[in-house]
Amino acid sequence: MKDYSSPFTYYGPTRLVFGRGVTAGAGGLVAGLGVRSALLVCGSGATRRSAGFAALAASLEAAGVRATLFDKVTPDPHAALVAEAADAIRSGALEAVVAYGGGSPIDCAKSAALAAANGGPILDYVRGEATPGRPALPIVAVTSTAGTGSEMSSAAVTTDRATGQKLGYTNESFFPRLAIVDPENHASMPAGVTAATGMDALTHAVESYLSLAANPLSDAVNLRVVSMIARSLARAYRDGSDLEARSGMAVASAVAGVAFSQTGLGMVHGFAHPVGARHGVAHGLANAVILPYVMSALARDAAPRMRDLAAAMGACRPDADERSGAAALVRVIVDLKKELGVPEGLSGAGIAASDAPALLADAIGYRSRPKSPRAFTDAELGRLLDAAIAGDLEAAAAL
Ligand SMILES: [Fe+2]
Repeated sequence: MKDYSSPFTYYGPTRLVFGRGVTAGAGGLVAGLGVRSALLVCGSGATRRSAGFAALAASLEAAGVRATLFDKVTPDPHAALVAEAADAIRSGALEAVVAYGGGSPIDCAKSAALAAANGGPILDYVRGEATPGRPALPIVAVTSTAGTGSEMSSAAVTTDRATGQKLGYTNESFFPRLAIVDPENHASMPAGVTAATGMDALTHAVESYLSLAANPLSDAVNLRVVSMIARSLARAYRDGSDLEARSGMAVASAVAGVAFSQTGLGMVHGFAHPVGARHGVAHGLANAVILPYVMSALARDAAPRMRDLAAAMGACRPDADERSGAAALVRVIVDLKKELGVPEGLSGAGIAASDAPALLADAIGYRSRPKSPRAFTDAELGRLLDAAIAGDLEAAAAL
């Protein structure tokens, strides 16, 4: 049992509205915040043409909320795109942002809402070169994927194209005022996206639970999240129209966002960000590939907590000994990856051994590195990355 005597705070102000068909009521909920105009942010692809997006746009109009469309969001939104969205907010004198989609549009909307309120380039705030004096404009997130957790988190990631880095930034005003989570909007997600985003949600809960900043509330959330994902993800992958499984994933993703906002994440994300930024590997896929290697290397220091996670996922008995419990966690993740068609190592996602130095240089500066339950040296992180590229679980376990 973890010692729960350490001080902590827990803040999660987002109103979660969950249920089949709740998108139709989104406009009324947004108007209920006192918002009369908003930038409606989404990607240019399939979500823009989806029934869920159409329902959202129609409900905003019916509720008298003037929506200005910004449908240019690309995966891993970069700073210039954020600036363009912020300009659209300012030039239209818009009062809020409403994002529809996965992590990319939601994060772009958050960053634009902060930049528009404060006037500066988002990277000045992200890099700590300036402090925003004003909170972001009100943020509403309507999800079409289950994984990012951005719909209930205080974080947003921005890509700096000049340096090839993905940079996370946290601000209390990034907690959306409303998260509208409608599993019917998730049903059309392709299997590959279901797998990648779902493994992102699993990684959030696992890393948040193992964080040195974990607390009793985040623990309760994260154990329930991994249990729901263990029951739902493979089902949603096999049959996208299984709304019970879609619902499990949708809720798990959202509430994991609140938990990791309190605790930070860990070195799976520390590696996944440069892999995504430098090689265009989807965020969830990068996490999915890397997760068991970092877990193998953490077993030395985090076995009891890893056993808790394995037990919550039904992979071992709650009273299993710590070492076999930790091994069970690695095994259940490896099995899930196989079932979801995720490559074993990063080499299967197009990363070569020669890419390691640049990836490592970014990973060693990851902001949540101090929250890792094992204080990896830079050299250990280098060997861990090599193991993840090669797909060598034994090398990771021997670290
Ligand atoms: Fe993530």
